[in-house]
Amino acid sequence: MFKPIRKAVLPVAGLGTRFLPATKAVPKEMLTIVDRPIIQYVVDEARAAGIEHIVFVTGRNKTVIADHFDRAYELEETLKRRDKNAALELLQKLRPSAGSTSFTRQQEPLGLGHAIWCARDIIGNEPFAILLPDVIVKAQKSCLAQMVEVYNETGGNVIAVEEVPEDQTDQYGIVKLAEGQSGHAQKIAGMVEKPALGTAPSNLMITGRYILQPEIFGLLSGQETGAGGEIQLTDSMLKLMEDQHFTSVEFEGVSYDCGSKAGFINANLAFALDDPKLAADIVPHLSELLGHKNAAE
Ligand code: UTP
Repeated sequence: MFKPIRKAVLPVAGLGTRFLPATKAVPKEMLTIVDRPIIQYVVDEARAAGIEHIVFVTGRNKTVIADHFDRAYELEETLKRRDKNAALELLQKLRPSAGSTSFTRQQEPLGLGHAIWCARDIIGNEPFAILLPDVIVKAQKSCLAQMVEVYNETGGNVIAVEEVPEDQTDQYGIVKLAEGQSGHAQKIAGMVEKPALGTAPSNLMITGRYILQPEIFGLLSGQETGAGGEIQLTDSMLKLMEDQHFTSVEFEGVSYDCGSKAGFINANLAFALDDPKLAADIVPHLSELLGHKNAAE
């Protein structure tokens, strides 16, 4: 038996510059996919995987995230008085229980690796999950739950990966698999951040979900800045790989990079089309728009 994965870190201290001006006063993670903020999908995924405690690494302008996961006392009392029971139950269901969240500040956005390091005292000496909150995964079974299943077999460190077209490998972190691997869980021999086109060791990109051993914190604390002048998580994972094994999981589901405009809009469409009532309104309009577009071309 390996130590269970009880805690997850959600780094939410980034500036979200790709979404300016929307993210000037509203955190990127609070932008809405259909009827709930992006961060709610990620918290739901973590809780569905059995995570008991969520650590948010925040920055300035992010207090609304803590408010979102708090009890909205006045609102709930008003809903109760007005017999809006379905809305009330939904709010209660989506709220993590008291004491199961922590918030710590990164103070300066020095990079993803630095954000994770800021959670070191709250995580302590146990393996933990990281979920990048700008990625949401639409799946029957929570992506992190699929990774925990693999972790329970392999122990060590586990990374979610998915295939990308060869001509896009230069935009992502890409893993190198060990020789002779097959199946959906495979041993990783290396990884590289944004390799130049034609040099990628595979077409499997790192999706933004990790299970890591606590030794990562010691490596992060001594780490220099890397690509883009930021403290990169990948650099410390590569060092950790010298002593510990890493397994990749090709999860079942579709990921959306909601930190990019196209990913955000695609996620909204995908989740909206799941709702038959919304779909009935959206599909005719989409067809009309596409008809106009095709006619103009
Ligand atoms: P990104 O680089 O995708 O997010 O980091 P960003 O910096 O907010 O967005 P852009 O590029 O300016 O539009 C991936 C995740 O890591 C967090 C971000 O909040 C995001 O969820 N992050 C990044 C931090 O928490 N701290 C950092 O210093 C950097």
